Amino acid sequence: MSGFGRGKVILLGEHAVVYGVPALAAGLDRGVIAEARPAAVAALACAPWGTDDPLGADTELGRAFTAVVEAHPRAPLPSLRVEADVALPAGAGLGCSAALGVAVVRALDEAVGHEATDAEVAERSLAWERVFHGNPSGLDNTMAAHGGVACYVRGGRLERLDVRRRLRLVVGDSGEPSSTRAMVESVARQRARDEARFDKTLAAIAALVQNGRLAIEAGDTHALGQLMDLNQHLLSAWMLSTTALEDMIGAARAAGAKGAKLTGAGGGGCMIALVESAEVGARVAGAIAALGFAAFETEVG
Ligand code: MEV
Repeated sequence: MSGFGRGKVILLGEHAVVYGVPALAAGLDRGVIAEARPAAVAALACAPWGTDDPLGADTELGRAFTAVVEAHPRAPLPSLRVEADVALPAGAGLGCSAALGVAVVRALDEAVGHEATDAEVAERSLAWERVFHGNPSGLDNTMAAHGGVACYVRGGRLERLDVRRRLRLVVGDSGEPSSTRAMVESVARQRARDEARFDKTLAAIAALVQNGRLAIEAGDTHALGQLMDLNQHLLSAWMLSTTALEDMIGAARAAGAKGAKLTGAGGGGCMIALVESAEVGARVAGAIAALGFAAFETEVG
């Protein structure tokens, strides 16, 4: 009985989405596969981390697992052991925890014969995300359940975009672990210090997202790349970028990317670069690898 949850990248609008600004995101092909089987002890085991958390364990994974088991529409559930195969780096901005939550919810559903829509799965996995992130916008778990290229607004509103040309991205991983909770709290402190100024940045990001949506629908990668660069400046102003991310972004632009930015919470984790062709993609991935960072190419849409 297996369930899949996908990873995601945010093309435009991370953090602002926590405050109600729409964000543009894309589901990845890679993610987490989970299987649930009847067992004497209900537990969640995650490869490749070697974790094994029984139901009720006072660990983050244990609390998250307990939250989705206890809130299951068929609760109380039989005793199930869930084994998850995680094929995403954790704390890297690619939505690993949400992909895991969605995979676990789907594995539980399959094991007890409960059919759920993607929207229901996304909604139930928000309880999982809250354990890890405190104040999640719901973007990660929604994208983990639905995939595609979409515009997301806090509260669960997802609109699939009509993508004129598939988007080719290079993802570079700084290898620096990033805490979404800590980054979201840091942005909240900046908001508390000067709300009027913060609102101006939110309005600027909202404009970038609106134009980004038009660019995606028109197949205008040049415009989308420029918007990603502008978003990166605003994210840096919120002190979310790092030297490693800046180095990768600079190398990607120099190697011919149309635009590049951090993706997800920042403070480490991954960046994305938009490229026009497989040839430029290979050049950009090579430039990132030459700096000593891992990179992979993906197409979305
Ligand atoms: C994390 O992938 C995205 C953030 O905007 C947080 C959230 O939306 O909950 C930083």
